[in-house]
Amino acid sequence: MTLSPLDEAGVKQAVEQAKLAFAQAGDSAELKAARIEHMGDNSALATANRAIKDLDPSEKAAAGKAVGKARKIVAAALAEREEVLKKEELARVLQTEAIDITVGTQRSPQGARHPVELLQEQIADMFLQLGWDIAEGPEIEHEWFNFDALNIDPDHPAREEQDTLYIDSASIGEQSGDDIEPAHLLLRTHTSPVQARVLLTQELPVYVACPGKVFRADELDATHSPVFHQVEGLAIDSDLTMADLKGTLEYFAKYMFGPEAKIRLRPSFFPFTEPSAELDLWFPQKKGGPGWIEWGGCGMVNPHVLRACGIDTKRYSGFAFGMGIERTLMLRHGVNDIHDIVEGDIRFSQQFGTTGKGK
Ligand code: PHE
Repeated sequence: MTLSPLDEAGVKQAVEQAKLAFAQAGDSAELKAARIEHMGDNSALATANRAIKDLDPSEKAAAGKAVGKARKIVAAALAEREEVLKKEELARVLQTEAIDITVGTQRSPQGARHPVELLQEQIADMFLQLGWDIAEGPEIEHEWFNFDALNIDPDHPAREEQDTLYIDSASIGEQSGDDIEPAHLLLRTHTSPVQARVLLTQELPVYVACPGKVFRADELDATHSPVFHQVEGLAIDSDLTMADLKGTLEYFAKYMFGPEAKIRLRPSFFPFTEPSAELDLWFPQKKGGPGWIEWGGCGMVNPHVLRACGIDTKRYSGFAFGMGIERTLMLRHGVNDIHDIVEGDIRFSQQFGTTGKGK
């Protein structure tokens, strides 16, 4: 295509065509094509520009000015369109490559802490808030701590093997000659041995809570497990009475089960407490209507126990209590079958969140 630099209308039209083509270019590739067509060497305006030198000298100046102006307008239109397209393209990239931080991730599922563990922690926290200490004892315990120190006679039924899991001394290499020396080791059947351990090692007064695992030779069923958890409480000071025991248990009950919770003590017997009581909890969610439900055991620490640990019973006395953590969890959250607690299905644990307060 050739265009005469003297063709004013033609030059004007070339400008309009170029502007239109730029405006219609939808992206930089299309704009590049339009630029080549309307501003390239073979474009109308380029040919007109080249033809100026062959014009009559009298016409050169005016034609040069006209064509130069036209080319400037086209170049400006190109630059303007370029700018617009660049912005549009950037916006498009930002849009398509945007990261939506609210979209769920595809990480592999996380584990969940076990509700028994969480509840133990909550209970420990409560006692720490009361100014108590937390104590622990070994799960493999000496018979003396588990029974003798606690005033449990050698012929007490709780020592019988059907309840207590004894450690086979042969299995821990204590075999001497043909006779197997009894090692007097067992899996602790309750957390009460920690009472004796604390009394033998800590300065009085003591206020300690001891959560931990205990073991009994029970078959696993809906309400029993051979391995479960208890929390023991022990307070020994110069003037503690049963009223202190009751006040502590009442506080504990309300902390666990809400402000409506009530407790009641029923006379009972434990060799290591005197007097002893069963601790009942007022349970509004009880099947068949609100009522009392057994929660644990308690009493004033038997002076025999204090004496076994070298404590002056004229100066010191105190109370102790113990309850099952699984039982507390089951009552609190309406868990009906202990299998749910021991089987370790993560879907069970996840319902309790990470704080143990449940959803
Ligand atoms: N150790 C008792 C049990 O396992 C509970 C208990 C603890 C009772 C402390 C009285 C005082 O049944």
